[in-house]
Amino acid sequence: MTGANSHYRAHLFFCTNIRPIESRRGGCGRYNSEALAKYLKVRVKELGLTRVRVNTAGCLHRCALEPVMVIYPEAVWYSFTNEADLDEILTVHLIAGGRVARLICPEQVQLKDELLAHPAR
Ligand code: FES
Repeated sequence: MTGANSHYRAHLFFCTNIRPIESRRGGCGRYNSEALAKYLKVRVKELGLTRVRVNTAGCLHRCALEPVMVIYPEAVWYSFTNEADLDEILTVHLIAGGRVARLICPEQVQLKDELLAHPAR
């Protein structure tokens, strides 16, 4: 569903955060997320998809699922590993308007991640 005030039909944010190698938590950037974001950006342009914007971002606080990206305005979160995953998201989500169920981030993992980060809550 596209909101009436949405400038973009689809706005994608890829976490490209990289933490120091000694960090207990990883960082999506360690999984080539910046290069994969560039790959999808090129594919969107090659296909002439209008009002689709691909951006990189810092930590999106879903580190347990790394690497992650989110597509607004629907706020659908995906965890991906390679160009083939992104091609599937491109075809199924961005072009056909569906969802790639096997790559969607489970909400339970977000809760677990938040509990680990803030155990006193
Ligand atoms: S490092 Fe990517 S979501 Fe936190």
